[in-house]
Formats: sequence, structure tokens, C-alpha cells
Amino acid sequence: MKKQNASRFTKAGMLAYFLKGSLGLFAVSILCNLFMTLLLVLIPQLIGFTVDSVIGSEEVSSAYEVFVSLFGGLEHLKENIWLIALTVVALSLVTALFRYGNNFFTLHANQIMLKRMRDTLFSHLQRLPLSWHHAHNTGDIIQRCTSDVDAISNFVSGQLVTLLRIVIMIVLSLTLMFLTDVRLALIAAAFLPAVVLYSAVFFAKLLPEYQKCDEEEGVLSTIAQENFTGVRVVRAFGREKEERDKFEAQNTHYTGQWVRVMRQSALFWTTSDFLTALQLLFILIFGTIFCVEGSLSAGDLIIFISYSTLLVGPMGMLGRVISNMSRAGIAIGRISEIMNAKEEVYGEREPLRGDIVFDHVTFCYEEGKPVLSDVSFTVKEGTTLGILGGTGSGKSTIAYLLDGLYPLTSGTIRIGGRDISSLSPATVRSAVGFVLQEGFLFSRTVGENISIASPAAGEGEMKRAAALACVDEHIEAFPEGYKTEVGERGVTLSGGQKQRVSIARTLMRKTPILVFDDSLSAVDSETDAKIRSRLGKDLTGVTKLIISHRVTTVMGAEQLIVLEEGRIAEQGTHEELMQRGGIYRTIYEMQTALPEDLKEELHG
Ligand SMILES: Nc1ncnc2c1ncn2[C@@H]1O[C@H](COP(=O)(O)OP(=O)(O)OP(=O)(O)O)[C@@H](O)[C@H]1O
Ligand SMILES: [Mg+2]
Repeated sequence: MKKQNASRFTKAGMLAYFLKGSLGLFAVSILCNLFMTLLLVLIPQLIGFTVDSVIGSEEVSSAYEVFVSLFGGLEHLKENIWLIALTVVALSLVTALFRYGNNFFTLHANQIMLKRMRDTLFSHLQRLPLSWHHAHNTGDIIQRCTSDVDAISNFVSGQLVTLLRIVIMIVLSLTLMFLTDVRLALIAAAFLPAVVLYSAVFFAKLLPEYQKCDEEEGVLSTIAQENFTGVRVVRAFGREKEERDKFEAQNTHYTGQWVRVMRQSALFWTTSDFLTALQLLFILIFGTIFCVEGSLSAGDLIIFISYSTLLVGPMGMLGRVISNMSRAGIAIGRISEIMNAKEEVYGEREPLRGDIVFDHVTFCYEEGKPVLSDVSFTVKEGTTLGILGGTGSGKSTIAYLLDGLYPLTSGTIRIGGRDISSLSPATVRSAVGFVLQEGFLFSRTVGENISIASPAAGEGEMKRAAALACVDEHIEAFPEGYKTEVGERGVTLSGGQKQRVSIARTLMRKTPILVFDDSLSAVDSETDAKIRSRLGKDLTGVTKLIISHRVTTVMGAEQLIVLEEGRIAEQGTHEELMQRGGIYRTIYEMQTALPEDLKEELHG
């Protein structure tokens, strides 16, 4: 994989890369093909010879002398003509054997290549930066990894091998035709450029149409994928009909596109089939004329007709293969787009201390639209920073930037005194433990979900992390404890349970910095306080960033910042900010005030 970052793949280079490991098998299958074709071409020769020299009385050409002497001379053959029939049957059997070998090795090589393509793509996609994934639709990526991968494998195992077989067949039969009768061979050969030219023109025309098919399929996959992941929203808002309509409309569009392509292809196939049939017709007409004239023997006419019949298939196929190649060309292009995207080089890990400095950080996801503007703060090692701010104020963005997920627009972020842009992603990620706002669990057991980032850790550590995150009792109450499957095939965790499993997972990594992005929003205030107090006691020395909408969650921090539209509106300790009487105090009072009717009840 290292090679790819160093140089971009050309289409051919990428194919060669995917073919590694299956090339030998493909070569064997092509060899089988070659032998099969040789035998197929030999049989008409034998029949022609039988008609002319065994049944008829033409002289035996030198090419058949060995054959004749092998069967005890011409006289012996004339008396025992069944020997030739037996030879034809035997040759047909051997041909079948080679045909089997050809199919078997092609399919086998194809599976090996498919596996290599899937493995390479998956591992490459895993290493692409987050910004790349944000810029691409999941449905489209899945479409590329399935349909486009299939198209490439069909191209190699089907079209390329077929093309080679066709070329071998055409070259062999044409050579033998020329050796037999130049006039008829010229007629047969004249059709070849016509078919190839016609195919090439069509190929160019069909290319953009196939591209559209792939794009439409990508859109369709995206709609389906979004609906399956967002099934709850769809149900909750009763949007089934709209979503179904949207899918059906796109599906109709997609089908229409294919029908258009197929209509054009059918027209092409029919015309190219007609051209090849015409070739056979011409050979029949002229062959019969030459035969009647006496310039062509009956055996040679049989040879020509046999070869022409043998050629009809491959020549028709030639056009078909060339036109289908356009599909593969696009698929290769789409896959090489993924393969040529630059991977994130993880690099070596270095230990870092836990103090953080944001120095005049400005950041835009899209150019010209800053999400964070001139944000500066310092967090000493082992202390806690609380970040408070409304929706969309840029809180999560601060966490992403600290984790090095996006490059800064301007300013610097330092961890342990070192500029993170000069550190390897591996170093930054191993310093920052990040509990994401949207907890995501894999379809595995709860235990595996907790220890996923630190597989070497023992069960004791996993249970300790679960206890710190106050989720141990819930897990133990599950039918199979830590071995309970979660996700689609297992139990469904509540939002709060999911958040706490995510916290436990991050705690397992034992990083010098921990970021909790709204990680306690789905738990009740009491559990929130309990978890914070446990974390405070257990994680001394760890630098913490606690992001929240809830004042009570952050007010205990040594330092607080209030974000407003990507700028730091206020900064200080809880007491300082309360005294200041600004936005923090307003939020505090709003959130901690008891409703008027409850106050009245309490105070009588
Ligand atoms: N990948 C992205 N591409 C473009 N814009 C983005 C992206 N992620 C976030 N934004 C925008 O950046 C702004 C800040 O988003 P961010 O997620 O940091 O807010 P937040 O303070 O965490 O909000 P919340 O409290 O709702 O989680 C928002 O206006 C959002 O629309
Ligand atoms: Mg957020």
C-alpha cells in the first residue's frame, strides 16, 4: 500500500496491481484456451482432408503424411474410415477438457483477483482522511466497491480473456484460410476491419451513457442507505411514502438510463451480427462458384464454411466485448479515483504530555465561511476545561481540530508544547481520547465494543472502565453480561447506555487528554454528576475537555469558555464568570432557575 501514496496509479497500473497473485492462473487459463482453439481449428482440416483425399482421390498433401502413416497408410484409412471419425471424437473430447480447464482457471483467478480488490479498497478506505469521507456519499462508495469492482472483474476474466481468445481464433483461422484459398480468405478478412471500426465508433458513443448508469446507481444506493440508517426518523415522522416515492423516482430514472443503453446496445449487436452473417453468405456464394468452376475442392469449401462458422461467433463477440469494455473503463476510472486519493500516513507514535494550547485558531470547513475565529486558550496538564455554547457554535469542531482530523486554516494547536501539524496522526490520536457526540457501537458484544481500541487489555481493565462510566450494573443485568451482542442482531441499548459504553471505550485507551463531546447529554443529571465525580477522582493527571450545553456539567471545571458563533465570548472560572454577569450568568440562571410555580410551592 505504501506505493500508492508515492505515485498515482494509471488505469493500467492499477489493473496490474490488482492482478498480482492471479496472473499465473490467468496465464494457465489462456494457455488452455490456446490449445482448445488449436484443436477447434484442426477438426475442419481433418474433415476437409477426409472429403478430398480419403473419400475423394486428391493427392495427400505433405501436412497429412505423418497422420496417414500413423494410421497405417492411405489404403488402410480408406477401408477403415471410422478411424478418422474416432479421431474427431477424441479431439472433441480433448477440446472439452481444455475448455473445462479454461473455465475453471479463469473463475479461480477471478475470485482471487476479486478478493485482492476488495481487501485493497477496504484497507485504503480505512486510511483515507476523515475529510475525504465527509466529501463522499457512503452509498456511492459502496456502489463503487460492489458494482464497479464486479465490472472490473468481468472485464478481466470475461472480456480480456474473451478478447484474447477471439484474437487467437481469428488469427489462426485467417492464417489457415489464406493457406487454403487466398480469394475466399480475402473476402472473409475484408469484414474484419468493418466490424472493428463499427465497434470502436459505438464504443465512444456508449461510454458516457454507461458512466451515467453508474452515477445513477450511486444516487440510488445513497437513498437506500440513508433510509436504512435513518429508519427511525423516517418512521417517527411518517415519511415512508415520501421516501418510497423518492426511491421509486430515482429507480425509474436509473432503469430508464439502462433501457436507453440497452436499446443502443441491441441495435449495435444486431448490426454487427448482420455484418458477420453477411460474411458467411459471401463465402458460401463465392465458394460455391469457385467449386463449380473447379478452382476449389469440395474439402476446401467445407474447411472454409467451417471456419466462417467458427468466425461468426468471435467476430460478433469482438464488437460486443469492445462495447462492454467501455463499462469497465468507467469502473476502472471510478475505482482509481478512490485508489489515488491520498492516504493519511499514520506514522510512529511518540509520547506527549497533556497540556493544550489553542493559539489564534481559525478554521473553515468551506472556504470563506469560518466556523471558528481566532480561538485562543491554554489548558494546563491535569486540569479541566469546560466548553459551553449553543448548537452550531463550533464546540465539536474544537474537538475535531484537537484530534488533528482537519488541517487548520490559520493559527496553531500545541499539545505538550508541540505543534500538532508537525506530529504524526498516530502521535496525536494516541494522546487524545475522544468520546464522540454521536456514540457509535459496532455489531459485536458489549465487551468487544469497550475494548475495541485496546485489545491487549484484560477483562479486569474493561470492567473497571465500565464501572467508571457507571454502565457496569446495566451490562451485568443483560442476559449474557459483557458477552451480550449489541446492534441489529442483539440488544438495543438506550441513548444513555450507548454514551456510557462509548465513554468506557475511550477510558480504556489511557490517553493523557480526554475530550467528552456532549457525552453525558443523554444521561440524567444525577448520573452525570456521579460519572464526573468518579472521573475526577480516578483520572488525576489527565487533561479533560468537557463540552456541554448543560451548565452543571461544566461548572466544576478549573476553566470555562463560552463559545458564540465560533468566537470565545467569555473565558474564566465559574466564579469569575458569575461575577461578570454576562452571557454565562444568564445561561446559568436560566438553566438552574426553578419554574415559578415550583418556587411558590417550595417557599409557601
Ligand atoms: N463537515 C462539515 N462540513 C461543513 N460544515 C460543517 C461540518 N461540520 C460542522 N459544520 C458546521 O460548523 C458549525 C459548527 O459545528 P459544530 O459541530 O462544531 O457545532 P457544535 O457547537 O458542536 O454544535 P452542537 O452543540 O449541535 O453539537 C455548524 O454551523 C455546522 O453547520
Ligand atoms: Mg457538537
